[in-house]
Amino acid sequence: MSTPPERSIWTVSDDARTVVRYIDQTRLPGELVIGALRTWEDADEAIRTMRVRGAPLIGVTGAYGICLAAQADPSDAALAVAAAQLREARPTAVNLAREVDALVAELARFPPSRRQIVAWAWSESLASSDIETNLSIGRHGTPLIEQLARSKPEGVPVNVLTHCNAGTLATVAHGTATSPIYLAHEAEVPVHVWVSETRPRLQGAALTAWELERRGVPHTVIVDGACAHLMQRGEVDVVLVGTDRTTRAGDVCNKIGTYPKALAAKAHHLPFYAAVPSRSIDWSIRDGVHEIPIEERDDTEVSEVHGAGPVADSVRIAPLGTRVRNPAFDVTPCHLVTGLITERGVCEPSEAGLTGLFPEMA
Ligand code: MRU
Repeated sequence: MSTPPERSIWTVSDDARTVVRYIDQTRLPGELVIGALRTWEDADEAIRTMRVRGAPLIGVTGAYGICLAAQADPSDAALAVAAAQLREARPTAVNLAREVDALVAELARFPPSRRQIVAWAWSESLASSDIETNLSIGRHGTPLIEQLARSKPEGVPVNVLTHCNAGTLATVAHGTATSPIYLAHEAEVPVHVWVSETRPRLQGAALTAWELERRGVPHTVIVDGACAHLMQRGEVDVVLVGTDRTTRAGDVCNKIGTYPKALAAKAHHLPFYAAVPSRSIDWSIRDGVHEIPIEERDDTEVSEVHGAGPVADSVRIAPLGTRVRNPAFDVTPCHLVTGLITERGVCEPSEAGLTGLFPEMA
């Protein structure tokens, strides 16, 4: 397999047009396939089928989708059609609708002839800002791991439990929850990651393990049901996850299976942190359980398992006709969260904590 590119998504231009390139996450870990988005419909398909996934990355892909729409037809009517479909491609992560809406509002300030160039510049700046944000989250989160390392005998690793993939692949680069892990590892703080496999799409086993392996970070894949067991045996020091949408009160919505980890962490007096870039905060809501739309995905993701080899075989595991339910996210109420690691620092999971770091949102 060739060396992966540094970014999960990037653009390539010639005189005539710009094409968006991305790592196709439906093909990992079997093979590294670079996909191409040439139309906004391509971007829409890539988001819906999770070739690109993770809250920050689908936000950036949505913005690139608007760029591609403007490249084809920069009229108000054409952009409105593309935006309406793209922003609905996945409902839970606040980033997607936020970036699509923000870019379309920005383009409305310019005549159609200028829109394509403005859109690409705006989206490239969004992608750069995502990278900077994630590095800052890393700088603020690493001391938490270093502090845990100091409480252990020399050389004994800090055991971080993570869920899903809030890594490089979920962002433009570096990841959110993985960023403190990568920085700690680079600083030679001994760290080991428990990677919760993340049924049904297996983002932990397929994607997080893939990128940790490439960075040389020691890790072990476990089934989702093993997490509380490992906590009970004293084999977890901290839980660190990402978020798709965090409310202004600090409720954290993330991949299905995050909430049970928070409950188990509470029962075992373990810290539970979420890495929260401000672009994933929905300042318009407080009550995550009742106000965040939870995506329900196709039944076959649960009733079948998919192989990871070059031939992506699927095998049915539930009897034909069995009823299936597939909610893709859950909400961890703020009282189960120890802290939120943002690009401006770590705060308590509350409105006061978040607006203390982001006073402009108070
Ligand atoms: O369904 P997915 O794979 O897009 O879900 C992704 C997650 O739940 C991530 O933890 C979240 O988007 C944070 S990514 C930095």
